[in-house]
Amino acid sequence: MCGIIGYVGSKNAIAIIVEGLKKLEYRGYDSAGIAIFDTNNFHVIKQKGRLSALETRLARARRPLKGHIGIGHTRWATHGEPSDINSHPHVGNKNKIAVVHNGIIENYKQLKERLEQKGIRFVSQTDSEVIAQLAEYYYDGDLIDTVIKVSNALEGSYALGIMCIDEPDTLVAIKKDNPLIIGVSGHGHFIASDVPAVLKYTNKVYYLNDKEIAVLQKGAAQFCNTDKEKLQKTLETVTWSIDSAEKGGYPHFMLKEIMEQPKVIKDTVNSILKNGENKNIVDNFDIKRFNKIVMTACGSAYNAGVVAKYVFERLCRLSVDVELASEFRYKDAVVDEKTLVILISQSGETADTIAAMREAKRKGAATLSIVNVIGSTIAKETDFCIYTAAGPEIAVATTKAFSAQLALLYVLAVRFAVQLEKISKETEKELLSEIKALPAKAAEMLKHIDFIQKYASTCIGYKSIFFIGRNIDYAIALEGSLKLKEISYIHSEAYAGGELKHGTISLIEENTLVVAISNCGRLYNKIMSNAEQVVSRGAKVLLIGNCQDIKTNDNFSFIGLPKVSELFSPSISVIALQLFGYYVAANKGLDIDKPRNLAKSVTVE
Ligand code: F6R
Repeated sequence: MCGIIGYVGSKNAIAIIVEGLKKLEYRGYDSAGIAIFDTNNFHVIKQKGRLSALETRLARARRPLKGHIGIGHTRWATHGEPSDINSHPHVGNKNKIAVVHNGIIENYKQLKERLEQKGIRFVSQTDSEVIAQLAEYYYDGDLIDTVIKVSNALEGSYALGIMCIDEPDTLVAIKKDNPLIIGVSGHGHFIASDVPAVLKYTNKVYYLNDKEIAVLQKGAAQFCNTDKEKLQKTLETVTWSIDSAEKGGYPHFMLKEIMEQPKVIKDTVNSILKNGENKNIVDNFDIKRFNKIVMTACGSAYNAGVVAKYVFERLCRLSVDVELASEFRYKDAVVDEKTLVILISQSGETADTIAAMREAKRKGAATLSIVNVIGSTIAKETDFCIYTAAGPEIAVATTKAFSAQLALLYVLAVRFAVQLEKISKETEKELLSEIKALPAKAAEMLKHIDFIQKYASTCIGYKSIFFIGRNIDYAIALEGSLKLKEISYIHSEAYAGGELKHGTISLIEENTLVVAISNCGRLYNKIMSNAEQVVSRGAKVLLIGNCQDIKTNDNFSFIGLPKVSELFSPSISVIALQLFGYYVAANKGLDIDKPRNLAKSVTVE
């Protein structure tokens, strides 16, 4: 979704903002723009399309722009088509105030009508322009007062960066239901929608809370609330390294992030088992007071929940429902104070997951989140938050954050099972040592990369690819299918193997590919019989599993996985599935890190 970067300081703001916009590209966007205060005026350059188009425009400017304060934006269209005029920053009629906005202004039509009646002329179709026009309308010499009035008038969600021509040394920011951070460096201050945008310059950040205002100048960052009362905020240090937000020699972030998984699993497991905040929460969590667990999330995070359902139910003997957050929020869910609702989210900012969290809280349920981005909305608003240690995930298609979620959920399931007295200390020890062995098994799995790359190169012509599995293999088949379709644009569905004959098998014909996953030894014969059923109808099968002595032929290929117990096997199979999806897309020459129409963090409904 949209991205914001802003800077005020002693360096050239243009270079910093363009660099920041590049780091925000991964969020998904269709246009980009920049506003700089240069000499006595704002210079606004905005452009539909990729950032390179904006850079070309900047390079062609009659004279090179320079200035020490500016704002930039990557837009993912919601109100109004992707176009130059609809891109941000937006400037009011008087060219006095420039604004970048993430979020949606729900009452923009009413505000626009009111302003139009006063003779103010709108130029774009966006909801965001109303903010710039309104700010100019209110402005009477004090930008902070103006921002307060504007925020009181707005309904909806927003993260805003605002500059005013009459106060050329000041950058003001405010947020509500949309993330915004303030970066602090020796040469100036930043605003940004997320940490990777500023990581090159600083790892010191303030996390802005709803309706807090940041007033930034070269040497000062001050905060107040909408009653203009001063706020003391804590400067936090981000542990993510700059390298983690760079490709590091890989052709795509996605491949780099796939390869990082052994380390990410290890770091996440350590963060729960060794001393630290995560460990404290897990050890002191009173699971006995709940009679039900509901996991809710979107996309891949939802798939992590489906995998976890099998693990939790098997180990804890406690009923677990898994709900899509977009459904949960509207379904009048049966949850109460005896329910533990687990929210899973990489970004911690997914609009549907946030809404599900608030709905669960409204109903009195306890909320526990599993989140990757520190200080994000879900992390802050849930009763308990356990962080995954995946580091910044840049590719739109999640890989390492998903693996971190799985690892964390496994440990949680084991710990809960002990507290519920469903497993012995002995079994706990065995299970934890299997979990600790996963990084090495994941590294072993990655050795199959050449075979997968070669096999995937033969798959780019398929119109449809199906994924099947049983029990936990079915759960991970869902993720394999999602990975493939989102980056390769090949139609794909995942089915529980036993469901094929209830309808789906009619789709199987000559030259359909079925990827079958088999890590549940006890169900091996079942999945093999499903595979035979589709082969006899003309399909080709790729079997991925830790089974042995598999005979392959032209219609039947096999990727052997390192042996891992059934419950934790998804951590290994998913790597094979991610690599498969990745190489199919790579062989099609697609923009893997930024698949069409998708955004990294879906902050609008
Ligand atoms: C798929 C993918 C998405 C996200 C989903 C939830 O590769 O990345 O399906 O998993 O949008 O996002 P978070 O985890 O940020 O809530």
